[in-house]
Amino acid sequence: MESGAKRAVEENQGGWMTERGGVVVLDFGGQYTQLIARRIREQKVFSTILPCTAAPEEIRKLEPVGIVLSGGPSSVYDEDAPVCSPEVLQLGVPVLGICYGMQWIAKTLGGRVEKSERREYGRGQVNIPSEGASALFAGVPESLRIWLSHGDSVRGLPPGFRETARTESALAAIEDAQRKIYAVQFHPEVNHTERGTDILRNFLFQVCGAKATWGGEAFIQETVEAIRRKVGPHHRVICALSGGVDSTVAAALVHRAIGDRLINVFVNSGVLRKNEFAETLEMLRERLGLHVIGVDATERFLAQLKGVSDPEEKRKRIGREFIAVFAEKAEELQRGEAHGEIQYLVQGTLYPDVIESVSVKGPSATIKTHHNVGGLPEKMPFSLIEPLRDLFKDEVRRIGRELGLPDEVLLKHPFPGPGLAVRLLGEVTREDLDILREADAIVVEEIRRAGLYSKVWQAFAVLLPVRSVGVMGDFRTYGLTVAVRVVESEDAMTADWARLPAEVLERMSTRIVNEVRGVTRVVYDISSKPPSTIEWE
Ligand code: XMP
Repeated sequence: MESGAKRAVEENQGGWMTERGGVVVLDFGGQYTQLIARRIREQKVFSTILPCTAAPEEIRKLEPVGIVLSGGPSSVYDEDAPVCSPEVLQLGVPVLGICYGMQWIAKTLGGRVEKSERREYGRGQVNIPSEGASALFAGVPESLRIWLSHGDSVRGLPPGFRETARTESALAAIEDAQRKIYAVQFHPEVNHTERGTDILRNFLFQVCGAKATWGGEAFIQETVEAIRRKVGPHHRVICALSGGVDSTVAAALVHRAIGDRLINVFVNSGVLRKNEFAETLEMLRERLGLHVIGVDATERFLAQLKGVSDPEEKRKRIGREFIAVFAEKAEELQRGEAHGEIQYLVQGTLYPDVIESVSVKGPSATIKTHHNVGGLPEKMPFSLIEPLRDLFKDEVRRIGRELGLPDEVLLKHPFPGPGLAVRLLGEVTREDLDILREADAIVVEEIRRAGLYSKVWQAFAVLLPVRSVGVMGDFRTYGLTVAVRVVESEDAMTADWARLPAEVLERMSTRIVNEVRGVTRVVYDISSKPPSTIEWE
């Protein structure tokens, strides 16, 4: 039988459900939505996120074994409160509502939801009566520490429902076991909730009867098949390769599917790191055996960036130029070869890129335009193939390892599409790019030398348009400032500044001031995400 995965790809849907029997998470805009999907995948059950507005038909096509309704910041009584189609509760598929998801279920099925006198936020305690305990709480103690975040509470049960847990002041879990509709007021996906994983496992395996079969190998096999079907026997595919983990894993998957009908294009945007263009090209060709065309478009990009200092404008222009370069290259290739029209563009878009760029009703607002998603022009000459769209970076690394890619690729720090342009505040000039490249190379060298490269998420330099007074020898100087940014993170959704040893910071600072002309001051960035972002622009 044809699997959900293949259909998802063929119909160009966002989600790449890699097998039947996954779980669909419907997003009401909650800050933990992606965590829910990830926790489910950690249990080897595939999970994909769709906006809460997804049509029941679209959900049914994916043949899920379960549906989770996420939390969200709204009150169900808000005028523009996000809603699902009520049909979602009639698909015959088990449902788990979390927080806002629970309130929406209660309201939709005829229960009563009210504003609580007391907002419950942060840590709390839940009591689960052992008598007649819910399948959701099988094997879980009677009292648990949980994580809450809600203002409304369910006060009246919908017909057919019963209470299965409560906090001191509110209902904490309800269910209609016959219809297999379950709901919790707290967040089992968050680490602060004790036994949260057991609760999710109970939902997956006891209630939904999910099979723990999803993993790297299944993902690769299903994705490769899906790509083959989508591309067909004649078309060719062009890939926007950057040498980073994401696009390289995406290219390796497509290469496995269609071999050399995949043409990779690696563009020098003029805002790459020191020696990166030459070294990456060599690595991709020699070590990975990929067919890669290098295009040096430095002049075009710098012309686009001339006089522009607004960060979003820089990102948009770089995004547009990337697509323009690809489109021209593809056309040229098509003209030059006798067969196989190029119809698809592969991108290594990951889940965090998607949610930070797309603002569906409710879900996370646009924070920055990532060039590989939000910056794309409306009319694209290609259809997209984005096989990693549902995954987080660490999941992509695992897939890459299964595909046999070397550590050199897998452990490489992420580098933003708009490159050094968003690490050089203000207008991008050639001179400043050269300064930044040198400083950046020193930061990375020193991090490597200290054995920290694979322990931190990213380490880089930022050039600030700030001049300050210094003294060198007998001369007064008035030079530029470099900020060093080194962060630790699991998935870039949150990040903390790395507590580097003072000696490492000292070596970086001394070397930058001594070796990079024009820089007289070095500062260390001690901001976390949120509220800051990792990149400065
Ligand atoms: P922020 O600055 O949003 O960055 O905290 C989160 C992660 O995303 C990377 N990043 C990008 N990656 N295109 C990309 O492919 C982009 O436009 C882009 N902007 C930021 C950033 O380096 C960090 O790892």
